[in-house]
Amino acid sequence: MKPVKVGVLGLGTVGGGTVNVLKRNAAEIARRAGREITITRASTKDLSKSRICDTQGITLTTDPYEIINDPEIEIILELIGGAGAVKDMVLKALENGKHVVTANKSLIALHGNEIFAKASEKGVIVAFEAAVAGGIPIIKAIREGLSGNQIEWLAGIINGTGNFILTEMRDKQRNFANVLKEAQALGYAEADPAFDVEGIDAAHKLTILASIAFGIPLQFDKIYTEGISEITRADVKYAEQLGYRIKHLGIARKTSQGIELRVHPTLIPERRLIANVNGVMNAVLVKGDAVGPTLYYGAGAGADPTASSVVADVIDVVRALTSDPENRVPHLAFQANALVDIPVLPAELFRTSYYLRLKAEDKPGVLAEVTRILAEHQISIEAISQKEPLKTKKTVSIIMLTQITLEKEMNAAIAEIEALTTVTGKVTRIRLETLG
Ligand code: HSE
Repeated sequence: MKPVKVGVLGLGTVGGGTVNVLKRNAAEIARRAGREITITRASTKDLSKSRICDTQGITLTTDPYEIINDPEIEIILELIGGAGAVKDMVLKALENGKHVVTANKSLIALHGNEIFAKASEKGVIVAFEAAVAGGIPIIKAIREGLSGNQIEWLAGIINGTGNFILTEMRDKQRNFANVLKEAQALGYAEADPAFDVEGIDAAHKLTILASIAFGIPLQFDKIYTEGISEITRADVKYAEQLGYRIKHLGIARKTSQGIELRVHPTLIPERRLIANVNGVMNAVLVKGDAVGPTLYYGAGAGADPTASSVVADVIDVVRALTSDPENRVPHLAFQANALVDIPVLPAELFRTSYYLRLKAEDKPGVLAEVTRILAEHQISIEAISQKEPLKTKKTVSIIMLTQITLEKEMNAAIAEIEALTTVTGKVTRIRLETLG
């Protein structure tokens, strides 16, 4: 059989890594796919730039459309990233009847509904394993491995850069900006690193995970998103003293009222495996009604790990080239006409526990005032600790952990606590999940 011809758009970290893995493992890949897979063309912005891959045998161009319009090419690997001009490229490739493999989470999260509709119309596949959690085959695991389950919730460390920063801050007391620079040099960070540190990248990925877990349309705009830039070393230290680690999690949970979709820093008990996922590693916990909790762990970013997912998708596409489009695994795990619009809950209706830190005057009755307010909002305290005042200061730090409560009640209680004359400044609030 003739080799399958593949065109690559983008030769950066992921594109370069993919060329390397496809070349290095060509024989093994052909044994798996049943056919040889050859990259014949690739596009890059700058032909003279040095690259991490060897492009011998590949015709290079600066115009992606030369590849998209090449009738010989059956599969396009979109490894440019971003959701602007790339959307048109992908739609054009689909229009031309080509299968597309992409690592582009923002593209899928923002335009996936339209892209999958076009792919179905044309009878072609859009594969996107590399869009979530780098090298971890989490899309395949949820979409195929857990397809007999009702997924109840999932929670994941799905941004490698953010996890790398939090880990280095905790273990080596390094400064935020320094660690971010290193993550950029290692090729982990997004072109705009605010996507990593403000949680947007994780929200893109959670959009995709929630859709394939619950059979809902992709709806990035409904995700509640908080980043890690406000996390202080003091909170990391206090959390540790209480037996918790702070991780930046993406959480999707189905409740009787709807679905919670949230990305935020989270205290988790340090005894949980996921609390010990460090550096650029990602991990996703998925709870199915039949299987119970399952955990998936691996490198969440970087050239070769991401290429591992891209290449697995290419092999899947090659295997499916001769299959009937009606009988393929649906893009979003559920048949396109079976997606349902379960309401996504506003943040006020989230139910979770909290870590609170506040600064209060060191005098009798202050703590009683604070606990009275919490009690009036039906918020139970799980643990409380007061730090000794510094000799030079008249305020003390009070740290509290609460039991599960409605976010609306917590918002109201915090507003009342902040209004007390004995309390200084803002109350720090970090959500807490036991993930049991
Ligand atoms: N910037 C992303 C991360 C790359 O750090 O996780 C992988 O999606």
